[in-house]
Amino acid sequence: MKKKLLDYLACPSCGGVIRLRSIQEEDRIEIITAELECASCARIFRIVRGIPRFADLENVEHEKRMTAESFGWSWQEFSQDDERYGEQFLGWITPVRPDFFAGKIVLEGGCGKGRHTQRIARWGARDVVAVDLSSAVEVAFASTRGLENAHIIQADIYHLPLRRDFDYAFSVGVLHHLPDPGKGFKSLVSKVKPGGYVSAWIYGAENNGWIVRFINPLRRSFTSKISPRLLLQLSKIPAAIMYVATKLVYAPLNASKRGGSIARRLFYRDYLTAIAPFNWREQHSLVFDHLIAPTAFYISREEFEEWWREVNAMDVIIGWHNKNSWRGFGRLP
Ligand SMILES: C[S@@+](CC[C@H](N)C(=O)[O-])C[C@H]1O[C@@H](n2cnc3c(N)ncnc32)[C@H](O)[C@@H]1O
Ligand SMILES: [Zn+2]
Repeated sequence: MKKKLLDYLACPSCGGVIRLRSIQEEDRIEIITAELECASCARIFRIVRGIPRFADLENVEHEKRMTAESFGWSWQEFSQDDERYGEQFLGWITPVRPDFFAGKIVLEGGCGKGRHTQRIARWGARDVVAVDLSSAVEVAFASTRGLENAHIIQADIYHLPLRRDFDYAFSVGVLHHLPDPGKGFKSLVSKVKPGGYVSAWIYGAENNGWIVRFINPLRRSFTSKISPRLLLQLSKIPAAIMYVATKLVYAPLNASKRGGSIARRLFYRDYLTAIAPFNWREQHSLVFDHLIAPTAFYISREEFEEWWREVNAMDVIIGWHNKNSWRGFGRLP
């Protein structure tokens, strides 16, 4: 943990000031082992392996814990970086572009392995504070260690240990995995300063009827319950089918002028075309990620719009992403 993070922290129980109590181990940039203390209620939080721990997985509700354990395993297995992540991220947070981040204090809700965190830090954010409930924070910490403006915290998005100090908060692929997605959105927004900005990307209900009807029951009753190691092997079967289809059918048909009319009729075309350039490991991780999650909601545009209305967001832009998910961007009054 970099000392600068103290400027943004607040006690998740009482909102009090968080201060350093004792340091056992530190290097030139990071505090590796230490204790934090709330100046008001005296609650103690530990810094372990460089990460402040505001959530104890042993004590969070069962559903959230299952989700965190699944994703913790997933991101430690699929810890690779990919040169396409930057553009992919910008697709999820459109209309935000890299220069938007310059000088901003940014909050990331559910950072996984920190692939977006490291890019935001390099794009010139003043500071980016990235939160995740799972052990994926270990990977996120390792991938942002040398970046003075990147901060990783283990915490629950419902109980953010942060002040209302952020110019921009975003969450990509996280809210639909919460027991109450709208509540997670509001919690994230509650840390944004008046006049600040928010982005969110979620699974859509529209165009995903086949997932809701056929894949969801399988996910809920089987794939999210078996051991991740077994799922890693089993998920290679659908991933291989998808990989061959994207490389041999979707990519060539979309690229050829004569194939255009056939391409337009392809199943789930926008999404499968968008992931076609990714390599085998990346496509495998996408399938695995869908199948391992114990909780996943598919949210309608109407419900998503309601979230933005409830926080009185202005100039809201909601749009399709690959015609299977919703992305939103707005500004707080
Ligand atoms: C599909 S991953 C997306 C990660 C990252 N946003 C990305 O795009 O690479 C969902 C992430 O949400 C995190 N998560 C789930 N429930 C959470 C909660 N209650 N609080 C904070 N993070 C949570 C998981 O641990 C996981 O890393
Ligand atoms: Zn306190």
